[in-house]
Amino acid sequence: MTKNILITGATSGIGLALIEPLKAAGFLPILTGRNAGKTADLAAHHGVKFYTLDVADPTEILRVTQQISDDLGPLHALINNAGIWLEGDFEKYSANDIKAVMDTNTMGTINMTHAVLPDMLKRGNGTVINVVSTGALYTRKSISIYAASKWAIRGFTGCLENECAPKGVRVMGFYPGKIASNMYETAGVERDLSVAMTPKTAAEMLITMLKDETMVWSQISGRALKDYV
Ligand SMILES: NC(=O)c1ccc[n+]([C@@H]2O[C@H](COP(=O)([O-])OP(=O)(O)OC[C@H]3O[C@@H](n4cnc5c(N)ncnc54)[C@H](OP(=O)(O)O)[C@@H]3O)[C@@H](O)[C@H]2O)c1
Repeated sequence: MTKNILITGATSGIGLALIEPLKAAGFLPILTGRNAGKTADLAAHHGVKFYTLDVADPTEILRVTQQISDDLGPLHALINNAGIWLEGDFEKYSANDIKAVMDTNTMGTINMTHAVLPDMLKRGNGTVINVVSTGALYTRKSISIYAASKWAIRGFTGCLENECAPKGVRVMGFYPGKIASNMYETAGVERDLSVAMTPKTAAEMLITMLKDETMVWSQISGRALKDYV
């Protein structure tokens, strides 16, 4: 079966770094991004299918995931990668800043999963990987909303993992620390990235999680899929 892998936010960082290694591993990556021109250009460069998809827009999610299903058939996996950073004192955030982070990091992940999971459950096969963050494992000052957005996804991922594994569908969280991507710069934040994981290494880890279909990688430890049956 064709191994279609839908990646959200694949126009930069980890998402973009996934494209070539996924191809090399025999998968068919589907490059999606919120910026139509950038998404099309990158897809042409890498020779892969693409769709413009803003995960903060629930209507667009329903339309585009249906289109992908019609065009390309079932998904082998969804990688919920799209995300944005927000840093600073909570009381200084605007309501729009807060909404953008929660709509993208939290509701984007939940709505994408909600759109593709029924077909995976019907087939009794499929994988959802949520790119979370160490920001969902600890608390510190200045990241209240980013942390809230990712802690929500940590809970969502863990619950869904338990719900779906007995039905043959793997739901997993990936919890990286600092990555040398554009995320901080896009948010207007200066960050020393001299000691940080590269997007390439993060992509390799995700592909390991994807390839080992007998395992459900639960945070930093793995469990065999058969353990849930
Ligand atoms: N960088 C880190 O230190 C770090 C650490 C732990 C976890 N993470 C997580 O890793 C994931 C990937 O981040 P990254 O480090 O690779 O950052 P990045 O280089 O900024 O990439 C983020 C991607 O998400 C896209 N995106 C943002 N909002 C979107 C939306 N509403 N709809 C669709 N796409 C959207 C961006 O699109 P544009 O190209 O249009 O901006 C970009 O392609 C995020 O979930 C992030 O929270 C990052």
